[in-house]
Order: sequence, then structure tokens, then C-alpha cells
Amino acid sequence: MAVLASGRGSNLQALIDASERGRIESKIVVVVSDRPDAKALERARKHKIPGEAIVPPAELKGEARRARHEEQISKVLDHFRTDVVVLAGFMRILSPNFVRRYPQRVLNIHPALLPAFRGVEAQSQAIDWGVRLSGCTTHFVDQEVDHGPIILQAAVPVRPEDTADSLSERILAVEHQLLPRTIRLMEQGRVEMEGRRVKIRPGDSWKSLDRVLPDVLYGDGY
Ligand code: GRF
Repeated sequence: MAVLASGRGSNLQALIDASERGRIESKIVVVVSDRPDAKALERARKHKIPGEAIVPPAELKGEARRARHEEQISKVLDHFRTDVVVLAGFMRILSPNFVRRYPQRVLNIHPALLPAFRGVEAQSQAIDWGVRLSGCTTHFVDQEVDHGPIILQAAVPVRPEDTADSLSERILAVEHQLLPRTIRLMEQGRVEMEGRRVKIRPGDSWKSLDRVLPDVLYGDGY
């Protein structure tokens, strides 16, 4: 798999750890970032994973710029013979063209219970809205932002004293469980799509392997 990340890369780290511990079989063949200073690239280097900074071309604008940028990314993904593309904090919207190149093979992790709080700063959106529960979602990427078929979800309670930061931190700990688990389910061939509904075929659970976090409600598949 290839991981696309713009920043910190803690979800990338969760995948690296899962891979090194034998929890998942997929290898991360390349990490691509649109920001040369992304911590994600540093993490890749540390684990001897090829890392590529691909910055959108400054000489182009708008759609042409995105198209060229995506072409450059695709070239790298193809070079490394990527099967699955994981968006882990990749702060760009991919065009339908790009997504079509990897049918049902582009995944995203989002720090809210979709379809609530799509887009950026989902945790602040949740705090501002006053919800009692938020959480995280892994899903297939389709033509719209934070919209494709949902694979896994977990609900994280919002505490009265929560700030966007404290809520983000608790959700992030669950993201680090859900993302590798999603990859594992795909490896096991247990993810079945029926329209926009995803069915998880019966099999093992990581609840018996891993510590489940207090108060978190894990949806089907974890
Ligand atoms: C995560 O909260 C993820 O859900 C969102 O962006 C953040 C990335 O964090 N899409 P990190 O770079 O993986 O630490």
C-alpha cells in the first residue's frame, strides 16, 4: 500500500507498527506527501520506507495544477506497484479522475462519525455543535469529500470539559486502532460492498487482541 499524508503522520505510524508487529501483512511501499517538511516523511525514512515529497507545480493554477500534481503522484504509485492507497491526513481533495484509477482501493480515515462533520476540523465542528458522541470512520473514497462507503466506525464520548484538542487526542487513539484493522479486514477479503453499504464478513476480532479503550463503542468489524 501507499500512504498519502500531509502532516504529523501518526496514522502512518500506526500502520508501520501494525506491519512490524505482524498485525497486517501489507507492506507500505511508499509514503507520499505534498509537503516536504511533513513529519510523515521523517517517520518513513526512519523505517526505511521510500518517501516522496510531491509539491503541486507552482507554475500552474486551479484544475490544471491539481491534474498535474495527481499525475505525478500516480506515477510514483505505479512505479511502486501500489494496490491500495491510504489517505492518512492528506489535506488535498483528489479528483474523480484520480479516484477512478484505483477503484475501491482508496481509503480514508476521518475523525468524526460520518456523515456528520465532513471536511476539516471535524473535532471542532463536533464540539461547536454540542454532540454527545463523536468518533472516527474509515471509508472508501469516492468522488465527494468524506462521502464514500463506510467500512469501520467507533464512537467516542464527548465530555463536557472537552476542547477540540482533548477530543482530537482521544479520537486519535481510536483511529490508530481502526486504520490498521481496516487494512487487515481487506487483506482477509472480508470487506464486501453492496452499493454504498459495506458488509464485514464474520471472522476474528481485534477486541480480544488489543486493549479496547474505555467508553469507546466499536462498531461491527473491529
Ligand atoms: C487524523 O485525525 C485523520 O483522521 C485526519 O487527519 C488527521 C491526521 O493525523 N484525516 P496524522 O497525520 O495521521 O497524525
